[in-house]
Amino acid sequence: MEDCIINGYAEDSELLIQSFESINSVELLSHVSDYIPNKGALIDVGAGTGRDAACIASSELKVLAVEPVLEFRTAARQLHLSPNIEWIDDSLPHLSKVCSLNDTFDAALLVSVWQHVKSEDKASCLRTLRSILNVGGKLIISVRSGPGSPKRKCYPTTPQETSELAGHCGFDLLASHEASSLQKTNQKAGVKWTWLVFMAV
Ligand SMILES: C[S@@+](CC[C@H](N)C(=O)[O-])C[C@H]1O[C@@H](n2cnc3c(N)ncnc32)[C@H](O)[C@@H]1O
Repeated sequence: MEDCIINGYAEDSELLIQSFESINSVELLSHVSDYIPNKGALIDVGAGTGRDAACIASSELKVLAVEPVLEFRTAARQLHLSPNIEWIDDSLPHLSKVCSLNDTFDAALLVSVWQHVKSEDKASCLRTLRSILNVGGKLIISVRSGPGSPKRKCYPTTPQETSELAGHCGFDLLASHEASSLQKTNQKAGVKWTWLVFMAV
């Protein structure tokens, strides 16, 4: 991942930690909750402060939370310490540390991360994610439309482009749901989300 994006998050981490934590995970994930397994293993990529990981993890569903920004991992350990969540410093497109574990997952969650991946890296991300998902595993991606912060570069992307690319990388589209942003500043800026759910085939 690009250093400028990591630094952009790290510099504003104090405010961003509060902002991430102010979101209600149950409400946020309501459009895709039917596709989140309740047992097995899930990987949350770009997990931020672990808000969603903590909401999902249980003794039956172990979560591997992947987050490249140290400040978020540190906050996460204070806010959401759980025996059911493991943290790792890694990033897309290659998830090289994750891949070296040789673990496989029943679901992968990318909440508000996809816009930080360059267009030319998106296929590589999807192939990496496919390689760590079990057949039948779910891939859930929230696709952003609308402006992002200039301090944390966002690359233009669309649900259509993402679905087409995923189709070439071993995924079938199961569901697509458009949603408004839950954050007031993003609502004002016209940010909208499309939640895509794919199945690894
Ligand atoms: C907008 S935040 C969302 C955090 C969390 N998923 C949430 O919804 O609160 C984007 C997150 O993606 C992480 N991120 C950005 N680029 C990434 C990459 N290439 N690989 C993994 N994580 C990345 C950032 O460090 C940040 O934690």
